[in-house]
Amino acid sequence: MQKGRRLVKGLVLSGGKGTRLRPITHTAAKQLVPVANKPILFFVLENLAAAGVTDVGIVIAPETGPAIRDAVGDGSAFGITTTWICQDRPAGLAHAVQVAQPFLQDSPFVMYLGDNLIGARVTKYVREFAECDAGAKILLKPVDNPSSFGIAVVDERGDVTRLVEKPANPPSNLALVGVYFFRPIIHDAIAAIRPSDRGELEITDAIQHLLDTGAQVQARVIPEWWLDTGKKDDLLAANTTVLDSTCESNVAGDVDAASVIQGRVDIARGSRIRNSRILGPVVIGHDCEIVDSFVGPFTSVGNGSIIRSSSIQHTVLMDECHIENIDRLEDSLIGRCGRVHRNGSRGALKLSLGDDSEVEV
Ligand code: TTP
Repeated sequence: MQKGRRLVKGLVLSGGKGTRLRPITHTAAKQLVPVANKPILFFVLENLAAAGVTDVGIVIAPETGPAIRDAVGDGSAFGITTTWICQDRPAGLAHAVQVAQPFLQDSPFVMYLGDNLIGARVTKYVREFAECDAGAKILLKPVDNPSSFGIAVVDERGDVTRLVEKPANPPSNLALVGVYFFRPIIHDAIAAIRPSDRGELEITDAIQHLLDTGAQVQARVIPEWWLDTGKKDDLLAANTTVLDSTCESNVAGDVDAASVIQGRVDIARGSRIRNSRILGPVVIGHDCEIVDSFVGPFTSVGNGSIIRSSSIQHTVLMDECHIENIDRLEDSLIGRCGRVHRNGSRGALKLSLGDDSEVEV
């Protein structure tokens, strides 16, 4: 996308602590947590690539960065080139932009949070931004609980007049979804702000500084869905929405005559379904084994997982999970190699769980 000869670069933020998704994020990057069996970050990169944003810097943290680099590779699978930018500590979204300045130089850029999923294609917003003179542009979505988000006040022309972070008395219900467009003037604004009370350099403060110094900040309200995948229930909601809107019937695995497949079910190669019922929308990765079980709607089963004599629905199993003899597993997010099984008497649950785990029986 161009205005004159200026290409819009991409900046994807994939550092951070991910405290809200613990315990999964003790050992894994939250941007790699799968939704419909695809890492959240991949949706982001595909969206940018489809918009012609192919020069993409990815901000990573020292702890989770290597796993993200392994998963994304050189970016050619997405049709992008990647530049890896290490942020030594999660000191805020504006701090991430500061660290990325040598990559961004004086290009306009789209900044996309690597843990946000939106139903919208960003193509038209990238084009609009490349063709306008605004200092920044943000995407917004009405929410029911504005006190939990960064909120924008917008005038009748669609320009932002004010931003407030998690307001006690919200002046509007328009939350910032994690997609922002900036011209290089943002670097001056970031240099001018100080860390907030929580010790972070806030991008909302930098945008407010742009407004205070007379720059135009445009806003667009997206009609499509937006899901912040920060917490378990948000992630399950994202899994439900994405399966609902994208899951297609495709049975590449092996289903025996005693099994029943209903609705939209995607079963990858090497998976075996025996004497089971699968009721879509459901996605099952490769080399899974599902025996004497029921897998109900809005479930994603990661590669190499085993489900035996169990009933599960509305759940995300990451790769190589093992579920056995469980009557009802619902509304759950189970990390890689998670094991849930009932041995012997019905009353006793035998669990092996990491720090900060939550068990609802
Ligand atoms: P947040 O969800 O705001 O922060 P977090 O990842 O630390 O999560 P939590 O609140 O659960 O502890 O981050 C939004 C996105 O931006 C996410 O993909 C992580 C990334 N990020 C950075 O890359 N650098 C940072 O300094 C921060 C704060 C976030």
